[in-house]
Amino acid sequence: MHDQTMKELRSLLDTEMPWVSVLATTVCVLHHGFSHFHWTGFYCVTSPEMLTIGPYQGSHGCIWIPFSRGVCGAAARSKKTQWVRDVHTREDHIACSSSTNSEVVVPIIFETEVIAVLDIDSDIVDAFSQQDVVLLESVAELVSSRYRPSS
Ligand code: SME
Repeated sequence: MHDQTMKELRSLLDTEMPWVSVLATTVCVLHHGFSHFHWTGFYCVTSPEMLTIGPYQGSHGCIWIPFSRGVCGAAARSKKTQWVRDVHTREDHIACSSSTNSEVVVPIIFETEVIAVLDIDSDIVDAFSQQDVVLLESVAELVSSRYRPSS
């Protein structure tokens, strides 16, 4: 399934697509491909140190997340994947949905800058496997490789 997802995304995401189309297509493939992904989306850096909701699927997401807040902010600040097995143990977690129990956030890095984060939430505690995290990091690299600063 994980290899198949990467294969599908590699074939769908061509270099001519506007980046928003890249993000929307990626969200669709991930969200419908994995039944434990209950909220799947991107937050994009829209001004210095500020993330704004991008394409997503799932219930209504928070609109603005400064780099100083939340698990998404931690991923953006540290440029490191945040794998949160139980969000209730994480003080900085922002609960956009009360049903969320675990979360993975992966930074999207273009050259050396964070341009977005990929955020996956699950209602299941400790829902994500190492294989899921490896997949999401590969997806982040693929999405970054399709980024054109002018698009
Ligand atoms: N839980 C995130 C906020 C975004 S929602 O999960 C969609 C966070 O702590 O940054």
